[in-house]
Amino acid sequence: MSTVAELFEPLQLRDLRIPNRVWMSPMCTYSAEDGFPSDFHLSHYASRAAGGAGLVMIEATGVRPEGRITPWCLGLWSDEQIPAFRRLADAITAGGAVPAVQLAHAGRKAASNRPWKGGGALPPGDGWPVVGPSAQPFPGHPEPAPLDREQIAGVVASFAAAARRALRAGFQVAEIHAAHGYLLSSFLSPASNHRDDEYGGSLANRARIVLEVIDAVRAVWPDELPVFLRISTTDWITEDTRHDRRGWTVEDSVELARLAGEHGVDLIDASSGGVEPAPVPDRRDYQTALAARVRDEAKVTVGAVGRITEPGWAEELLTTGQADAVFLGRALLRDPSWPNHAAVALGATPRFLEQYGYAV
Ligand SMILES: Cc1cc2nc3c(=O)[nH]c(=O)nc-3n(C[C@H](O)[C@H](O)[C@H](O)COP(=O)(O)O)c2cc1C
Repeated sequence: MSTVAELFEPLQLRDLRIPNRVWMSPMCTYSAEDGFPSDFHLSHYASRAAGGAGLVMIEATGVRPEGRITPWCLGLWSDEQIPAFRRLADAITAGGAVPAVQLAHAGRKAASNRPWKGGGALPPGDGWPVVGPSAQPFPGHPEPAPLDREQIAGVVASFAAAARRALRAGFQVAEIHAAHGYLLSSFLSPASNHRDDEYGGSLANRARIVLEVIDAVRAVWPDELPVFLRISTTDWITEDTRHDRRGWTVEDSVELARLAGEHGVDLIDASSGGVEPAPVPDRRDYQTALAARVRDEAKVTVGAVGRITEPGWAEELLTTGQADAVFLGRALLRDPSWPNHAAVALGATPRFLEQYGYAV
């Protein structure tokens, strides 16, 4: 490994060489129509690739229409959507980054409004019926209809079908969204999963749908290409929060990460929270410390995320063995060229498009 900056060293996952370790975290832009990406998405993602990110992850993309967080979220539930996604994958690749997409089902938090319109559940009539592991609603949202076994199998099949479409569109990484209280995450946490069948109760049962989705995606995703899993390493539910049921803990995450690795997941994208409203510690390392624990104890490859804004600290997360890569969220919204600026700050070589590189 170079002594200049580990952030700008490639990461090999299966046969895929990701050119550096500064990656764009999936972030909804609530700007799609019927799930189709628009010119806004094209310029948004292309400029983050041009700014030097090693991997650009497209925001949460519904595997079914009713699995979208909002009516303005992206979707890959139809073959007709493939060409518009191909434009995104091609533009990201042309910018020098690896194109990745996050496949998602919003579960009981679906049918919401855009955050800049106040967020929360859409008024009845504007949204659609939501589903979940059990009838417990997310606070302020309608009661979800519990999925039966046949419907669970349908959701699993939809993840695989969406992955197949993502592959046809040219994406090289598929990320399964099992974080933030959305459908898969709501099965994982005892706070939201009150089932007493084989999809509830023990950790093995609560994780069953996630492992089924991983297996189904892996069955259609080439062996040469990686699959990521985003998890909430904790849902921050403690005895102090309003819940009488325990939440999902970092110990659970270590176990899930191990199982996910056995099922063919190549990287754990270690986020947190979202299952219930709960206070989050006000510390820079609130989330990265949990990523480090999962990496250390489960012996898996981990991407850290959350409040990473300083190049020096991002580099330290890698050099101290807390993460293998960093995902940037809001820092990349503020500055699409954050990776190139960080490269300069750390003495590494920025990556310019050839249209710019000869001139600057
Ligand atoms: C506007 C916005 C949209 C987001 N949308 C998603 C999403 O689609 N999928 C997801 O897993 N996380 C989503 N997140 C969470 C981010 O990926 C990231 O984990 C979080 O913002 C913390 O990183 P940061 O401190 O670098 O912003 C979103 C965050 C923001 C700010």
